[in-house]
Amino acid sequence: MPAFENDHIKRLRPYLAECMVLLKRNGAFPLDGPCRIAAFGCGVRDTVKGGSGSGEVNSRYFTSIEEGLERAGFTITNKDWPDRFAPYLQRAKKQLRRETRQKTRQEKVNFIVASMGQVLKQPEYQIELDLTADAAIYVVSRLSGEGNDRLPDKGDFRLTDSETADILALDAAYERFMLIVNAGGPLDLSEVAHVGNILVMSQLGVEGGDAVADVLVGKSYPSGKLATTWSAYADYCALGDFAQHDDTRYREGIYVGYRYFDAVGKRPLFPFGFGLGYTTFEMGPPSCESAGPAVTVKARITNTGAFRGKETLQVYACCPQGKLSREVKSLAGFAKTRELQPGESDEVSVTFDVRDLAGFETATARFILEPGRYVLLAGTSSANARPCAAFDLAHEVFVKHVRNLFGHADFEDAALREGDPFATEDLPLLDLDLDGCKPCEVAYDNTAPDIPELASLSDEDLCFMGIGAFDPEGGLLSIVGNASQSVAGAAGESTPQLDKLGIGSLVMADGPAGLRLARQYYEDDKGAHAVGISVPESMTDLLPGPVRWVLRRPPRLKKGTVVHEQFATALPIATAIAQSFNLEFAELCGDIVGSEMDAFGIDLWLAPALNIHRNVLCGRNFEYYSEDPLVSGRFAAAVTRGVQRHPGRGVTVKHYAANNQETNRYANNSIVSERALREVYLRGFEICVREASPRAVMTSYNLLNGTHTSERRDLTDALRCEFGFDGIVMTDWIVASDLLTPNAKYAPPSPANVAAAGCSLFMPGSKDDYNDLLAGLKAGKVAREQLERNAAFLLKTMWEMQAAQETTRPAAKAE
Ligand code: BGC
Repeated sequence: MPAFENDHIKRLRPYLAECMVLLKRNGAFPLDGPCRIAAFGCGVRDTVKGGSGSGEVNSRYFTSIEEGLERAGFTITNKDWPDRFAPYLQRAKKQLRRETRQKTRQEKVNFIVASMGQVLKQPEYQIELDLTADAAIYVVSRLSGEGNDRLPDKGDFRLTDSETADILALDAAYERFMLIVNAGGPLDLSEVAHVGNILVMSQLGVEGGDAVADVLVGKSYPSGKLATTWSAYADYCALGDFAQHDDTRYREGIYVGYRYFDAVGKRPLFPFGFGLGYTTFEMGPPSCESAGPAVTVKARITNTGAFRGKETLQVYACCPQGKLSREVKSLAGFAKTRELQPGESDEVSVTFDVRDLAGFETATARFILEPGRYVLLAGTSSANARPCAAFDLAHEVFVKHVRNLFGHADFEDAALREGDPFATEDLPLLDLDLDGCKPCEVAYDNTAPDIPELASLSDEDLCFMGIGAFDPEGGLLSIVGNASQSVAGAAGESTPQLDKLGIGSLVMADGPAGLRLARQYYEDDKGAHAVGISVPESMTDLLPGPVRWVLRRPPRLKKGTVVHEQFATALPIATAIAQSFNLEFAELCGDIVGSEMDAFGIDLWLAPALNIHRNVLCGRNFEYYSEDPLVSGRFAAAVTRGVQRHPGRGVTVKHYAANNQETNRYANNSIVSERALREVYLRGFEICVREASPRAVMTSYNLLNGTHTSERRDLTDALRCEFGFDGIVMTDWIVASDLLTPNAKYAPPSPANVAAAGCSLFMPGSKDDYNDLLAGLKAGKVAREQLERNAAFLLKTMWEMQAAQETTRPAAKAE
């Protein structure tokens, strides 16, 4: 194994426990040491390291919980449990294959598309319990992925009856019992919520199983906080649509996640920001001060328990109700302590600009702070944050003037909050001085970099530049990670056809839980080829037997072919990274990816992904950070900084925007108000662009208010003119759209329209796409000037990246 691989796994390990969230504790853990343990549940052996789809990472190995326990010295007393469970699982899989085949026939959809990310509901089973060990765990695993949404049913979002019965029986029988949840997002734990010890392991990549063993014996301790609300399925907001085939109305407006629970006064089972550790903490009275528009909240946090731990200060703001219906509270900032020994304390502080609390008034297209009382709350979760200070604004403050860009929703957003929840609190008042703050008038001037060489390019050359390098044989499997010719298993690349401009190509590989590449490859004069299949295995898992066999059979290589390895480090999924509430750790994750990009010759990483957890059933939520836009934006920015610290390596933040479901993902229309877009769905992208200048942005598959996001000029305008983005805008992987969306109400995006909207690259690219663009240019659907502008952003970024890479040349290929 190359030294860097080892080094990356070692650097991650100490942080894995920070991503885990302890939901319940009764003092029975940590254990005194490895012991005789009974381990139940589908996740003991089939532990899930991350979700499925383009986010799957080919690491050299990863440890299941079973392996992790044994490596740590535990003796598992019921090793036969997974063997006895296997036939139940096999039957369930067979059944799902049958159902998927039926669906393909009935709905005339392609089999690969129908099976991608299809949820295998865990089966009911009957296996007797071993009650003879010193301690017990039950591991509930769930796998979800790109292509399909999760199900609100038993075996997916809900526990099966067998799981519930066993968990309750074990909790009653064992003094030391821990329920462990190995899922990419929330589960309805309402029936087992009174169990003494519950740990959200999440999905942690390479050494997840070892990390769980570390936590059980107290070698490390969980200090994560939920980045999304966990509750009973029936508790979540049902005001808006979800998983509609054609049109999905976001009627809940800004009331997403805890914003909804707060506004309707419902207490979830486990609130946003909540998480225990093995120890206990006390937070001293917070102090607040202001300087201009900046407010700082400080608090001293003391470890009052008997174990080591870390705690997170969370600061929320409650803005006054006026013309706009506001949240009861929204996160304004957070800070985690260093590791505290029993008795130790640390002062942490959170600073934020009050202008970031502004709400969007659609009638005037302005971000405003309305007059009235602003209450600041500090605490260690959204549910136990207490008011600590306030400030009053006598007049409306006009923060920023933009244009209403994104079309109309055919409904009014929900206005849920009632009254002023903290009106009676007697609070210290801050004297805020906003006099020096001038309102920002956004100029939509849209200048592109000046690259005179572009004028001399032929129309054909310009069209080549606008389309990803196409592999004539790429076909349907190019949808996910198979369209690059220079690096096996990389998702795609820009055209290498324009050597006369000194342009190489940009090679792009997927994420976000690490770098997605083929495990092994060989090279010939046509490029690099994966040994074996390079599409995610999960995409083939439900295919008919013979097709699976053909795809998975060992490759026949010519004698003497040299096979190279390309293993990458599987990181914790994005939701787990956010649960750490540790931006330094997120930056480390980015740094690891950046150095693997150096090693394998990848220019752009197709991550981080920062869509909002709008609905807990979205199949790709595990790839995204949180239900909260601030958390999403700040974590994406930290990961971006980590990657882009490597000269000439860049990220591609995705999927821009309002891409919150997988049902009919290529042709679903998100109908969202201008306000909810700006306050919830675009905010994370803006934070990431402003804080970390990502090199590229990927548009999403879905439509937004009736037009594909890749064809929306206004989305590029917002990126460039409002957020200050000056990199490459590219599409998501638009392949064989007619085949993918046979029953669609909306037509797929066309390369000419996409170019006219200011998108530099139509990905992954095909001959037909090229022809469409050229025909569009000749027919005046897109102006040559626009193609030159798109090319200018692409070239400027490429040249900058290539020049930066020159400074680190010797790092080239790993082997
Ligand atoms: C996914 C993207 C991914 C791309 C390339 C698409 O299907 O939606 O997230 O980056 O494939 O593999």
